[in-house]
Amino acid sequence: MPTRDYDSFRIRTLTPHLGAEVDGLDLSQPLNDSEIADVRKAWADWGVLVFRNQILDREAHKAFGRYFGELHVHPMNYARSQDPEILIVKTDANSPYTAGDAWHTDVSCDEFPPMASALYITETPEGGGGDTLYADMCLAYELLSPTMQEFLEGLTAVHDGALPYVGAYKSTPPEGGYPRHEHPVIAVHPETGRKVLYVNSGFTSHIKGMSRWESRAILDALFEMIATTPRLIARVEWEPNTLTLWDNRCTQHHAVWDYHPNSRYGERVSVVADTRPAGVSA
Ligand code: SIN
Repeated sequence: MPTRDYDSFRIRTLTPHLGAEVDGLDLSQPLNDSEIADVRKAWADWGVLVFRNQILDREAHKAFGRYFGELHVHPMNYARSQDPEILIVKTDANSPYTAGDAWHTDVSCDEFPPMASALYITETPEGGGGDTLYADMCLAYELLSPTMQEFLEGLTAVHDGALPYVGAYKSTPPEGGYPRHEHPVIAVHPETGRKVLYVNSGFTSHIKGMSRWESRAILDALFEMIATTPRLIARVEWEPNTLTLWDNRCTQHHAVWDYHPNSRYGERVSVVADTRPAGVSA
């Protein structure tokens, strides 16, 4: 894979359009302004950045997230009194599910969904497996026909936290329920200006202004396209002490649970977006 230079580090790209491994940064130490600017630039360029051989405690992990903005508290962490900004991602032989085992963008049910997530995996399954797949949602938009792009651009969809958190994970909701918000079906990335297909099978329940069958048919067709178009995908093969940072505004991801009964452990921090997902005409 090609290597490229930023001022502070080199990268090795995972695919020509999505994902890069960063060599030459120690995230346990504070980053200086030019390193932070380079990470932000590489993140905007590649959507998914992989940092290997990082020895991080929770404070260093959170400090890395704060370079991008305010840390997010996951809705399922509402009762967690210690370190609520840390989301534990743990799967073992007794787990009824593994988090993120469907195509999704993190917590898109929020009004201001997390723009960034940084997952730090410290234990990988014995015998392999447990990769994460990432899909490029700018490319997904670009692969649609102009007729379909134009049709989707005016639409709004509902993203409902109850779908994964109650439906899939059987979690007890907080008082008032899990978040549920509307977002444009085609969003514009606030930094790159690129158009993004912004519906995901984890959270998007329906498209507004359509009958139930119409909405289901359109969403299922889009979800099918995401799930069956390999050229959208970059695959991260974890090693212990790998941190991967991704942009939820232009990617989706899918954790692969192919390692039962073995175990995998990581912790995630996410960063709240400072703007809502904006549509094409906003
Ligand atoms: C997630 O959705 O953040 C979990 C991803 C993973 O465990 O690979």
